[in-house]
Amino acid sequence: MELLQRPRRLRKNELVRNMVRETRVSKSALIYPVFVREGKKIKEPIPSMEGQFRYSTDELLYELEKLAQAGIRRVMLFGIPDKKDELGSGAWAEDGIVQKALRLAKKEFPDLYYITDVCLCEYTSHGHCGMLSGCSVENDKTLPLLAKTALSHVQAGADMVAPSDMMDGRVLAIRNCLDENGFVDTPILSYAVKYASSFYGPFREAAGSAPSFGDRKGYQMDYHNRKEGLKEAALDVQEGADILMVKPALSYLDVIQEVANRFDLPVAAYSVSGEYAMMKAAAKMGWIDEAGVICESAVSIFRAGADILLTYFAKELAQYIDEGRIG
Ligand code: PBG
Repeated sequence: MELLQRPRRLRKNELVRNMVRETRVSKSALIYPVFVREGKKIKEPIPSMEGQFRYSTDELLYELEKLAQAGIRRVMLFGIPDKKDELGSGAWAEDGIVQKALRLAKKEFPDLYYITDVCLCEYTSHGHCGMLSGCSVENDKTLPLLAKTALSHVQAGADMVAPSDMMDGRVLAIRNCLDENGFVDTPILSYAVKYASSFYGPFREAAGSAPSFGDRKGYQMDYHNRKEGLKEAALDVQEGADILMVKPALSYLDVIQEVANRFDLPVAAYSVSGEYAMMKAAAKMGWIDEAGVICESAVSIFRAGADILLTYFAKELAQYIDEGRIG
């Protein structure tokens, strides 16, 4: 047999395999999403997301400490207010839950990087991501509310804001508002390519943000579409986005790849609550190897072209990186 190329030569042992890895994963590319709620001494389990909790601000500090120890230094904060109203005014309230959490967390852990999700759906009584007129979500009237929300997060200490509402023009509205108020250096991570997805189910349970009527298909994207994702990404680049995000991740690896190839901004991917819940559930049944599947899924997202991964498995991944399973 005169085989000149034998790919197995580079698979002979772990030392050579790890040397020729094409995809590297590091802790600095991971962002951990955290839910904060009102109250004190509360660490409330989220039933559909085993291992994830809603933290009161004091309990959040313990969690941040654990994250920092694991080497995860970037978090995305989601607020769960006690009261909701028609407009979602808790989103920009000075003593809103995210604002309070930020002030406290920045004081205790100034070396972490705080990104905030900017949306109204956790704060509106109807659960939609913007202001209603009858049964439809008003695009242009929602923009100032989102800008106000982003500004209040930054004033409370957010290092970066991440609009997830999918209104047209919201990146520009937020950019202008931050600039006018002197925050020209605060970056925007845009949920640029966000699909209307059933994979958000557990998150909506966690945040109590399921729409009370209808669905989000009037503003989030139709999952049949790929080119439309590129259009959304291009618009956000024009509007001043600093990082483009694709969401969900695992069913959209093609979209991640294309956005990464086409644009010169960093690309983030959000492996969402439903992806987490599916893996957790199957692992609990003993049907899959949890660590194996977590590693393989995360690496596939980076292999597709993502530079940054938002994942509820950030702490586990940090451990697997330490153990040399991936990295
Ligand atoms: C808010 C928002 C959602 C998620 C992130 N920001 C829910 C939604 O759009 O319905 C989903 C995150 C997840 O499922 O993990 N708009």
